[in-house]
Amino acid sequence: MTEASSPWGPFDTPYEAIGGQDKIRSIVDRFYDIIDADAPNVRSLLPRDDSTSRDRLYAYLVEWSGGPALYTPERGDPRMKMRHNPFAIGGAEVESWLICFGRALDDNGIEGDIRSFLDERFTALAHHMQNQA
Ligand code: HEM
Repeated sequence: MTEASSPWGPFDTPYEAIGGQDKIRSIVDRFYDIIDADAPNVRSLLPRDDSTSRDRLYAYLVEWSGGPALYTPERGDPRMKMRHNPFAIGGAEVESWLICFGRALDDNGIEGDIRSFLDERFTALAHHMQNQA
């Protein structure tokens, strides 16, 4: 691809536009650190040791963005809505998740076309996970 002909800019995949595996790892770790510090409503839904949660979100985002398939060989079909059903996710949790994720993107310098693309897609995805009033 040459011109900025995709919504994420002049890269073949969002994965490349973000900056690959190491950048995604850094975003995920920052995201969970921010949840630990500032989002008790989301933190309380997670296991005490959140290392598996971190690894799963990392694997999912690498695969979702067009990088290597790290998620489905381990966990199967993503079916994210179904996987979130056991947790009470209301409007407040959706907003907290999005604020923390946005801060993690800020702290990793994700801006421009790829940032607009991620903001739009994750806003929709996060609202899709809401399963309580
Ligand atoms: C809307 C607010 C959200 C809340 C409160 C939330 C909360 C949770 C919780 C409590 C878990 C289980 C913890 C665990 O498995 O260790 C989980 C798992 C997961 N969440 Fe979310 N989540 C939200 C949105 C999202 C979004 C938007 C995505 C994708 C971008 C996502 C991706 C994942 C993944 C990949 C897993 C692991 C699934 C698996 O078991 O393989 N979540 N989430």
